Amino acid sequence: MKDDQTGTSKHETPMLDELEGGKWPSFVTGLKRLRDEGTDSNRAIMNDLLGQLEHSYEEKLGFWKGGAISVLGYGGGVIPRFSEVAAKYPASKEFHTLRVMPPAGFHYSTDLLRSMADIWEEHGSGLIAFHGQSGDIMFQGCASDKVQPAFDALNELGFDLGGAGPALRTAMSCVGHARCEQSCYDEVRAHRTMINAFLDEMHRPSLPYKFKFKFSGC
Ligand code: HEM
Ligand code: SF4
Repeated sequence: MKDDQTGTSKHETPMLDELEGGKWPSFVTGLKRLRDEGTDSNRAIMNDLLGQLEHSYEEKLGFWKGGAISVLGYGGGVIPRFSEVAAKYPASKEFHTLRVMPPAGFHYSTDLLRSMADIWEEHGSGLIAFHGQSGDIMFQGCASDKVQPAFDALNELGFDLGGAGPALRTAMSCVGHARCEQSCYDEVRAHRTMINAFLDEMHRPSLPYKFKFKFSGC
């Protein structure tokens, strides 16, 4: 099977294909959409990522190893993943995740979401998860040399990396008083005040502990 645009062959994924059956949306369909409709670079990355995942299902083993990657001046916020089968799936051989702190109350404009998508199309795989269980926006699939430029572009938009490892983690707040009658305080302000006061513990932690602040208005 050939990709119409890039002319490279698509990996066969019979086991992943089965996960598209049934009534629930499938992450496989999402990955294939990027493989078939993304930019040339996104297509290549997603094709090899799907190939490696199918290979994992065949072998019943994960083929990702960790490492240490970050941006200038920070100790965490990037989850590094290097492929152990890079020779077979070279386009996705470095598939790091940038954890990025969400806005308080999860308020986004469509303009902002488009800008984020453009940045990730250019520097990453195109795959973004809103949001991880920690509250982070997860920008998934970045090569080592693209981590700094991707962060710089997101930082330019006003965003910062989140927490990882033994450090202060990304904070979250509910939509609260913006929409909800159960809200008893200004969650957004509390969130911003706390996280700004303790931000150093996220990027340059002084204690070997993971700790978190989460705000629900009720
Ligand atoms: C459809 C693709 C994927 C989705 C939707 C996804 C989603 C997630 C989510 C929601 C988390 C939890 C994050 C949080 O709570 O902050 C996570 C963690 C993680 N994922 Fe994925 N992921 C995907 C693919 C991958 C791939 C391909 C890799 C390896 C290259 C990977 C490596 C990791 C790692 C290392 C973590 C961090 C685990 C930890 O906190 O110790 N993910 N992922
Ligand atoms: S957590 Fe409580 S205050 Fe916040 S949106 Fe939900 S019900 Fe409302």
